[in-house]
Amino acid sequence: MSQISVSAPGKLMLFGEHSVVYGHPCIVTAINQRMQAVVELIDDPFLEIDANDVGVTGYKKPIKEIGRGEIPKGARFVEIAVKNILKNCPYTGGVKITTHSEFSSLFGFGSSSASTICVIKGLSELLDMKLDNMELFDLAYKTVSEIQGTISGFDVAAGIYGGTLYFIKPVHPRGGRTVLLGGVQEEINSIPLIVVYSGIKADTPTLVRHVAKLKQEKPEFVHTIFNTITKLVEKAKTALLEKDWKTAGELMNTNQEYLQSLGVSTEKLDSMINAACRAGAYGAKLSGAGGGDCIIALAPDENREEVKKAIQTAGGIIMNVNTNAPGVQITK
Ligand code: PMV
Repeated sequence: MSQISVSAPGKLMLFGEHSVVYGHPCIVTAINQRMQAVVELIDDPFLEIDANDVGVTGYKKPIKEIGRGEIPKGARFVEIAVKNILKNCPYTGGVKITTHSEFSSLFGFGSSSASTICVIKGLSELLDMKLDNMELFDLAYKTVSEIQGTISGFDVAAGIYGGTLYFIKPVHPRGGRTVLLGGVQEEINSIPLIVVYSGIKADTPTLVRHVAKLKQEKPEFVHTIFNTITKLVEKAKTALLEKDWKTAGELMNTNQEYLQSLGVSTEKLDSMINAACRAGAYGAKLSGAGGGDCIIALAPDENREEVKKAIQTAGGIIMNVNTNAPGVQITK
């Protein structure tokens, strides 16, 4: 077999963004919009990438040179993923990768992590490396952090395991080899979320740096916020498992207040969130780094439509997204 098709889900952060970077837990769900990749072993010792969704067409580089020199933004995750797999593998041929996304990379659904996972899963299968999910996580986590710097890996976990996860950032053991996934996976049946795109692309690394700076300047303040978010995440986990959407919504509001204190929310996000709450949502919050991307809301069935309308009036774009999607899959 020299060709394989793989897909991995996008993700949405439900609770605990930012504090998760510092070892606190978060809750993330995999969504039903997926990244697809066809991975092929070819004779010529080149890496070839077609990722039209992110403007990469006919990209070609000798395998010996991958990971070096200028790499176009849209090819970065795929190229570094291939480099990290081939580093420990005697394979000397070439690799061709074609990706296609069901969602725009602008939404913050984790297209970079999902494509990284697809490449690592597909290529490791073709090369008969028999990676288990933990090893897959390890390689994908290494790849994404090599490019993005400080991350938690919550999106990598969601892309691999799927479902809704309680996740804790892995602790790097000495020697920098295996990465242990500190979280547990728990199935929570589909959550009736309203997902809304703000129309603004967030820059995650900038926001992560902003919180790091705040943490340096006001360690006590940030420490207290992180500990409070941790308690809230534990409560949210119970609420989600019990399908207590009212409590989960109220916890979203509290989480949002702390994210505002960290300075990662914006006027646009706040006004969509306020509109949702005024229209009768149980609660709403930003999802992810902040600065833009998406907000999420939970509302009772009877005023769901009203809540959606209010958010639209505040400038939000309602997304058709379901939660608890399956993790990475070989499709052909
Ligand atoms: O911007 P997103 O959707 O990739 O979410 C970032 C979440 C952070 O906690 C801020 C960073 C991370 O790696 O967990």
